[in-house]
Amino acid sequence: MLNVVILAAGQGKRMRSDLPKVLHPVAGKPMLGHVVDTARRLAPAKICVVHGHGGETVRAALDAPDLLWAKQEPQLGTGHAVLQAMPQLAAVPPAPTLVLYGDVPLIRAATLERLIEAVGDGKLALLTAHLDNPRGYGRIVRVDGKVVRIVEEKDADDAERAIREINTGILVAPGAALARWLPQLGNRNAQGEYYLTDIVALAVAEGMEVVTAQPGANWETDGVNSKSQLARLERIHQRNLAEALMEQGVTLADPDRIDVRGELVCGRDVFIDVNCVFEGRVTLGDGARINANCVIQDAVVGPDSVIGPFARLRPGTTLAEDVHIGNFVEVKNSTIAAHSKANHLAYVGDATVGSRVNVGAGTITCNYDGANKHRTVIEDDVFIGSDTQLVAPVTVGRGATLGAGTTLTKDAPPDQLTVSRPKQISIAGWKRPQKTKTSRKKE
Ligand code: UD1
Ligand code: CA
Repeated sequence: MLNVVILAAGQGKRMRSDLPKVLHPVAGKPMLGHVVDTARRLAPAKICVVHGHGGETVRAALDAPDLLWAKQEPQLGTGHAVLQAMPQLAAVPPAPTLVLYGDVPLIRAATLERLIEAVGDGKLALLTAHLDNPRGYGRIVRVDGKVVRIVEEKDADDAERAIREINTGILVAPGAALARWLPQLGNRNAQGEYYLTDIVALAVAEGMEVVTAQPGANWETDGVNSKSQLARLERIHQRNLAEALMEQGVTLADPDRIDVRGELVCGRDVFIDVNCVFEGRVTLGDGARINANCVIQDAVVGPDSVIGPFARLRPGTTLAEDVHIGNFVEVKNSTIAAHSKANHLAYVGDATVGSRVNVGAGTITCNYDGANKHRTVIEDDVFIGSDTQLVAPVTVGRGATLGAGTTLTKDAPPDQLTVSRPKQISIAGWKRPQKTKTSRKKE
C-alpha cells in the first residue's frame, strides 16, 4: 500500500510566463504529467495533487479519474502543502506516503521503488544527493552518521552550509506519523514557512529511524525554476529517449538531433536522420527510413517506406509498405497503400490512395471548400501528372491517368487519360513589348 502526494502549488515566478510552472512541457508533456505518470507506475492506492497557483488551470489540464486534488491557498510552505492533502488520503489502515514535486519531472520509478523499500515497517526515508555545489538546498545534518534533521540554506550556519549532502525534497513517511507531525509544524524560520523538512527532527525525537537513498543520476531530482533549467532537462530527457531507441536497434544519425514528443514505436532496422520531430503516437515499420528534417505526428509509416527529407506527416496518416513521401510533401488524415509515391511538393489531405499510385510534383487535394472537408479517392495504379488539383469530393478510377495541370472537379473514369487544360496555342509574328524612351528616363 502506498499513497502519493505531488506538490504543484508553487508559482514559478522565474519562468516569466502566464502558464503555471508545472504545465510547462518536457517532451511535449506537462512536467506534472511526467510526475503523475511515474507515480502511476508505482500502482499506489491514491495520488493527490496539491495545486494552488494558477487556480483551476492545472487541474483542468491533467484531471483524470484516478487523481485526487487538494487546493493550497495561500502557499505557506511544503509542510502546509502536504497537510492540505491529508483529508484526501484518509484511509484505514494509513499507508506510507510518498511526496513528489510537480516541477521535478525526470524522477525515475526505479529510484522511487528503492526509496519505498527503504521505509520498511515504519521508517522515514529521504532521497538525498551529494552535490559539489549544494547552494540553495536543504542540508542533511547527521550526527554519528545518523540523520538528525534537515536545515534549509537560509537557516543554516556556516558549518551546516558546508554540508554537501542535500535534501532532494522527495521522501516517504509512514502515513499515521505524517498525519501526527504535520499539524505540529511551526513557521518560525527565516522564510516564515511551514517546512515539510521539519518532520525529520520530529521523527528523530520519537526515536524513529531516518534512512536515505540516492537517485541513480542527479538529473532525476533536478527541479525546474527557469526556462534555462527546463531546456537543460529537455535535452537530458531527449538523450535518454534516443539511447533507449538505439538500444532497441534503431539507427540514429545523431542521437543529439532527434526530438520525440510522445511515443515512438520502431520496428527492426529503422534509420532516422538528423532533425526529425516525432509527436503523439508514431509507428515506424521494419526497415523504414526517415530522412533529415521531417515532422511526423500521430502517424503510421509502413515497412521499407522512405520519408523526407523535409516531409510532414500529420495526424491520421497511415502509410503501407514501400511508400515514398519526398521533400515538401504534406500528408494528413490519409491512407496510402503499398508502393505508392509522392516524391515532391504535394498536399495529400483526407485522401484514400491505392497501391502503385504516382502522385506527381505539385499535386494538391483541395479538401476544404471553406466550410467542410471532403475526401479524395485515388484507386490503384493511378498516375497523377504534375501540378494537378483534385477538388474533393472526387474519385480517380483504377489505372486512370491525369494530365499535368489538370483541375479535376468530376470523377475520372478508370484506365483513361483525363485532362482539363486550355488547348496550347502559338501566335506567329508576335513581338515582346519594348520599353519606351519616356519610361526609361524615369528610372
Ligand atoms: C525544498 C526543501 C529543500 C530542498 C528543496 C529541493 C522544504 C522546506 N525545503 O526547498 O530542503 O532541498 O526543496 O528542491 O521543503 N510547494 C507547494 N506549496 C508551497 C511551497 C512549495 O506546493 O507552499 C511546492 C513547489 O511548487 C515545488 C515544491 O513544493 O514544487 C518545492 O518548493 P520550493 O519552494 O521550490 O522549495 P525549496 O524552498 O526549494
Ligand atoms: Ca526548489
